[in-house]
Amino acid sequence: MADPAATQGAAPDRLLAEAAGRFGTPAYVYSTDLVEARLAHLRAHLGRWFAISFAVKSNPNPALLSWMRDRLDHLDISSGGEFGLAMQAGWEAGRISFTGPAKQAAELRPAIAGGLGELVLESLREAELADAIAGELGLVQPVLVRIAPARVPKGFGDQMAGRPSPFGVDVEDAAEILPRIAALPHLRIIGLHIYSGTQCLRPEAICENWRIFMQVFSEICEALALTPQKLVFGAGLGIPYHPGDSELDLAAIAAGIGPELDAFAGRFPATRLELELGRYLVGPAGWFVTRVVSVKQSRGTRIAICDGGLNANLAASGNFGMVLRRNYVMHRVGGDEDGARPEQKQDISGPLCTSIDKLGGGVALPRLEVGDLLAIHACGAYGPTASPIHFISHPVPRELLATGGQLRDVSRLGKD
Ligand SMILES: Cc1ncc(COP(=O)(O)O)c(C=O)c1O
Repeated sequence: MADPAATQGAAPDRLLAEAAGRFGTPAYVYSTDLVEARLAHLRAHLGRWFAISFAVKSNPNPALLSWMRDRLDHLDISSGGEFGLAMQAGWEAGRISFTGPAKQAAELRPAIAGGLGELVLESLREAELADAIAGELGLVQPVLVRIAPARVPKGFGDQMAGRPSPFGVDVEDAAEILPRIAALPHLRIIGLHIYSGTQCLRPEAICENWRIFMQVFSEICEALALTPQKLVFGAGLGIPYHPGDSELDLAAIAAGIGPELDAFAGRFPATRLELELGRYLVGPAGWFVTRVVSVKQSRGTRIAICDGGLNANLAASGNFGMVLRRNYVMHRVGGDEDGARPEQKQDISGPLCTSIDKLGGGVALPRLEVGDLLAIHACGAYGPTASPIHFISHPVPRELLATGGQLRDVSRLGKD
């Protein structure tokens, strides 16, 4: 089994140069070989306890979703639009769950009518709305109830519980709200769901978080006399983005929590446990490739100005949920191939007329010249669809899928 940390190190410059040459820049290149290696790694360490559900929000590219269809167990969608993308990619509705705190009738109706596997309820309002819709359709919709625990351990890049939060039913209110949901005639509670933190690189914090989940699940199931078919552990598995970050140690997670998961699974023998995650699978399997359009020497600083910036890649510019901007790992495609480019610190900016359009500050790279290609790593999740691609009306980034060294243009954005 390939170690994803090892495969990630080998930057496929031939592929990235070919992608830019054939399809233009800026472009995202996603490697299905790397997603496959990461999935194998995940299943090898955690597959004994968990099935895997992919969060479509992290990368909704239909070609990627369709590649995943026979490889992953479930998809989690968070809008009617994502339901449409999943269906277009050939997923059966029965293998899809639907999360999101502001679901509306117009998106719930087609999903419920289409045979949605599990509706993940985030509030009583939504439960009542879904119950009415299922009733009109003459159906009983299976639901999971999302619970927001009272505590999230330190170490998560973003926290969705443990403080006032729009997500799910606060655990303090579960005893009052869940019986009311259970009493609705056209919904059937088949389990519970927790997603309380993302982007965690510390195994002990992941273990601690899952301990909290197991306690919340046990208490609620006991109180409701619920034998759950499914319990979703919103995984929170992080990925290395910045110089000095290291790959999350899944073996340490398995060793740290394995005996407790065994005991938990023993208490719930009829229950499927599932990890819901996005970036862990696809983030490190994607590169963002942008070309240097202009170079400016400004008051002692060399600035390479590229054809894609925050418009095409908001996350790498540090404006997608990052408190302090930190450089992503990046390299010059080709490195210093002719030995004529001494490494020096340079700033990297994008094409927009705003000073926040910066992809790197003081990055040590072989001296960049006009026409050079820069590849930013860990860009396979929260890329083009999490970026303001229409701001200043530059071309939208291409999306390319690489499988076994073969590239395919799978661009969706800008076409509809
Ligand atoms: C409900 C839910 N599930 C899954 C995810 C995916 O998170 P990640 O890409 O960090 O694995 C998120 C991210 O915000 C989420 O809110």
